[in-house]
Amino acid sequence: MDRIQIRGGRRLSGDVRISGAKNAALPLMVASLLTDEPLTLAAVPHLTDISQLAEILGGLGVGITMNGNGHAEAETGRVLKLHAKEIKSTEAPYDLVRKMRASFLVIGPLVARCHEAKVSLPGGCAIGTRPVDLHLKALEAMGAEIELKEGYVYARAPKGLHGARVAFPFVSVGATENLMMAAALAKGTTVIENAAMEPEITDLGHCLQKMGAKIEGLDTRTITIEGVDRLHGANHTVLPDRIETGTYLMAVAATGGEVELLGTRGDLIGAVIPLMREAGVTIDETNRGIKVSRNGAHFTGVEVTTEPYPGFPTDLQAQLMALMSTANGTSHISETIFENRFMHVPELLRMGADITIDHQTAVVRGVEKLRGAPVMATDLRASVSLIIAALTAEGETTVNRVYHLDRGFERIEEKLSALGADIKRVKG
Ligand code: EPZ
Repeated sequence: MDRIQIRGGRRLSGDVRISGAKNAALPLMVASLLTDEPLTLAAVPHLTDISQLAEILGGLGVGITMNGNGHAEAETGRVLKLHAKEIKSTEAPYDLVRKMRASFLVIGPLVARCHEAKVSLPGGCAIGTRPVDLHLKALEAMGAEIELKEGYVYARAPKGLHGARVAFPFVSVGATENLMMAAALAKGTTVIENAAMEPEITDLGHCLQKMGAKIEGLDTRTITIEGVDRLHGANHTVLPDRIETGTYLMAVAATGGEVELLGTRGDLIGAVIPLMREAGVTIDETNRGIKVSRNGAHFTGVEVTTEPYPGFPTDLQAQLMALMSTANGTSHISETIFENRFMHVPELLRMGADITIDHQTAVVRGVEKLRGAPVMATDLRASVSLIIAALTAEGETTVNRVYHLDRGFERIEEKLSALGADIKRVKG
């Protein structure tokens, strides 16, 4: 298994191109199931989650071709053409779905287009139990019969789905996406109340609109979708990855230096920018992206709670904690989205951080220096938080289980190395 070795203490400088967003690209790929015409997506990041979803979609009958490899064409990422001319199977098997929860999104489009689906329950996951009850209740409200048998969800709607008013008890990104896609081909009007308004939802909405869907209320908590008989093909460019943006921003804040994040936008990380400025990091929006710098000056601890967008994202909580491990003063970081998303804490402690957990809040007392150590992480964002910690630490850190990073961060060691970090991948 590959490992990443980092010798800490180097400042980062230069510029880095932010990739297309993984969490936008995944639902966009699934949207290809809604039409028998080709959907062409540009700026698709080169990540294992993307290849795994491509495998699942391939099994359902989607023809997939790819141009560009994300290396030579870093400006545009890969261009993926997905063509679901005919759905050959409506079954998404356990072996593939268990590896990636986002693949559960196929259930809505499959029932909408083929009136049936058999999709494995995604199962447990390192960051919490993560049920799919909201997805299923929404499909039931639209007329689907749902049966759970032997770890699979069987969904059937012999007469097709109909519109419904669905009020989610709390915000769910995945359930909102599943319902938007199902509603696009349902009979009548669907109203989603308490919808997620993450930028990835809006990106999916824009792509569905290009495909002929009638959607109103994007960027608000109430989304209305008037079903149409058929959708057509479209071309769409995936929006920049706000989590990768925030991750590089925090890496630069942690090491010091000056880096311009190219091709991204400040509005995508609205809640992060004031918080970083409050901590003492300089952030300027430029016509090419976002410039972040911290030159010598200390930065201070912060108080923050993760929330659905536009609040501070749970997917940046671990990275913020790594940064705050060497802040001046104490930070309070509360996690409200997932019940078990502090697994990076024991690893940060091994590197010399001073963190205690009180229920859903981590109290992070800034220390002078972290020290390199062999570490291991259990999920994607936790792994990258260890990379940030390692970049500031004295001595060498080896990050094990790199496959988590490869799920969500495109060419991270190349990008950091180009910014001046002493980082290398050790094959093994
Ligand atoms: C999306 O997951 C992201 N994944 C996650 O990113 C992200 O952390 C999360 O949204 C929150 O922003 C993708 O977009 C592919 P939710 P999702 O449904 O849709 C509970 C990463 O690192 N819930 O908004 O699965 C759930 O357990 C990943 O890239 C139910 O109880 O998240 C959680 O506590 C990790 N029942 C909360 O809602 C349901 O039916 C929010 O989850 C659905 C969700």
